Amino acid sequence: MRAVVIGTGRMGRSVQAALDARGHTVAAMVGSHENAGGAALVPARLTGVDVALEFTTPGTAPANVARLLAAGVPVVCGTTGWEDQIPSLEALARARMGALLIAANFSVGVHVMLHAARTMAAAFRSRPEFEGLIIETHHRLKRDAPSGTGLAIQRAAREAGGKDLPVTSIRAGAVPGTHELRYEGPFESLSLEHVARDRSVFGTGAVLAAEWLVGRTGVFTFEDVLFGKRA
Ligand SMILES: NC(=O)c1ccc[n+]([C@@H]2O[C@H](COP(=O)([O-])OP(=O)(O)OC[C@H]3O[C@@H](n4cnc5c(N)ncnc54)[C@H](OP(=O)(O)O)[C@@H]3O)[C@@H](O)[C@H]2O)c1
Repeated sequence: MRAVVIGTGRMGRSVQAALDARGHTVAAMVGSHENAGGAALVPARLTGVDVALEFTTPGTAPANVARLLAAGVPVVCGTTGWEDQIPSLEALARARMGALLIAANFSVGVHVMLHAARTMAAAFRSRPEFEGLIIETHHRLKRDAPSGTGLAIQRAAREAGGKDLPVTSIRAGAVPGTHELRYEGPFESLSLEHVARDRSVFGTGAVLAAEWLVGRTGVFTFEDVLFGKRA
């Protein structure tokens, strides 16, 4: 697989390492300097590229994804903090018969947690004495809050008919990403916690998603990769 990586920060480097480790070719690493005005994401610069992995900033990801789709390149995007614009990019992917996979989190454990969050929310739906809450902790340089994964856990609970759970964000130190879903009752507490010990979990997951996406057409989630496309 020949891949381009958009974003040369912490995640871009993690994706680059995962691509190398899995025997793929990194055709280009695109940072903000070489991509001024989208200059690096034009068809002439993307010839022979099988897939792009996009990990930049909430302000730049939508335009990058749109340019890649316009150039006919399948896109795996992990940038968070632009959830409100995702539907329009998904519509663009469908209109162009492209391939797009956006995920706020590329860890297997978090996606098992989302399944469990639906089960827990359904079980506590008729138990008003239990209060649900989400706590997410990330390194101090993370730009968005709440985290995309915190919002995904909130959405999973909502989908199961639960209340909109409050999300508390902590920004400190070098934490790659910790998410806790907790239900507090009068005499007991139930907690489910996911701890990412190293950023490589996300880079490797993104590369697995890219391997799965190449050759497909449509709009997908990381759950589709792990558990099969939902009806
Ligand atoms: N989905 C997941 O599993 C997952 C996991 C962790 C993080 N994330 C998300 O991934 C994103 C990146 O995180 P990070 O920790 O790597 O951030 P980071 O270290 O700040 O890196 C962001 C990079 O994007 C580059 N950039 C900005 N605008 C650009 C443009 N128009 N074209 C190309 N590159 C551009 C920046 O370049 P300059 O330095 O030159 O400005 C920088 O290298 C964040 O949204 C984060 O929340 C997702």
